Amino acid sequence: MNFFLKGLLLIFFAASISSCGGGDEKKERGKLKIGEKKETKKDDTKKEENANYDLTNKGVGPVSSVTLGETIDQTMAAEGAKIYKTKCTACHKIGQKFIGPPPNGVLDRRSPEWIMNMILDPEGMVKNDPDAKALFLEFNGSPMANQSLTEEEARKILEYFRTLDKL
Ligand code: HEC
Repeated sequence: MNFFLKGLLLIFFAASISSCGGGDEKKERGKLKIGEKKETKKDDTKKEENANYDLTNKGVGPVSSVTLGETIDQTMAAEGAKIYKTKCTACHKIGQKFIGPPPNGVLDRRSPEWIMNMILDPEGMVKNDPDAKALFLEFNGSPMANQSLTEEEARKILEYFRTLDKL
């Protein structure tokens, strides 16, 4: 019994030495709890973020159905890249947040129809689509500009977005 108690004391002692604050066991416990919470919180936020992406939402606008090929159409993607460079890079950057979000992995966040509707009618989307509205608020109310693209041009950009590495 005595031995057991000594062992217990030793463990507590070791624990307080290995902690940076030391001594204040209560504080240390608190810290540990916060640390633990943070970890689970991180996971939760990740889950929540994923849960926020509704890939069944097609948005509001002219596009109601898009079929993606099994493989990427490289010719279309190359044309899309050209249009993207001239019409979108004022606000979007590959690989990083700019005025708008990076297009990397956008197909994991949005349905193809939603993306095309956002490109073709951003005003209508922010007005009528809850996800676009939320994104608009997240980007501090800076609006996405309508670049007056044709559906075909928007479709090419969508194909180009498929070629981008996920972040
Ligand atoms: C004037 C700046 C501006 C221009 C130009 C612009 N965008 Fe945006 N875009 C934004 C902002 C800001 C957002 C975030 C939503 C909002 O604030 O309405 C956004 C959002 C998006 C989204 C949704 C991304 C997501 O993660 O859900 C897509 C897709 C998109 N833009 C594509 C394009 C394409 C393609 C072009 C070029 C044809 C373009 N944008 C041109 C500012 C711009």
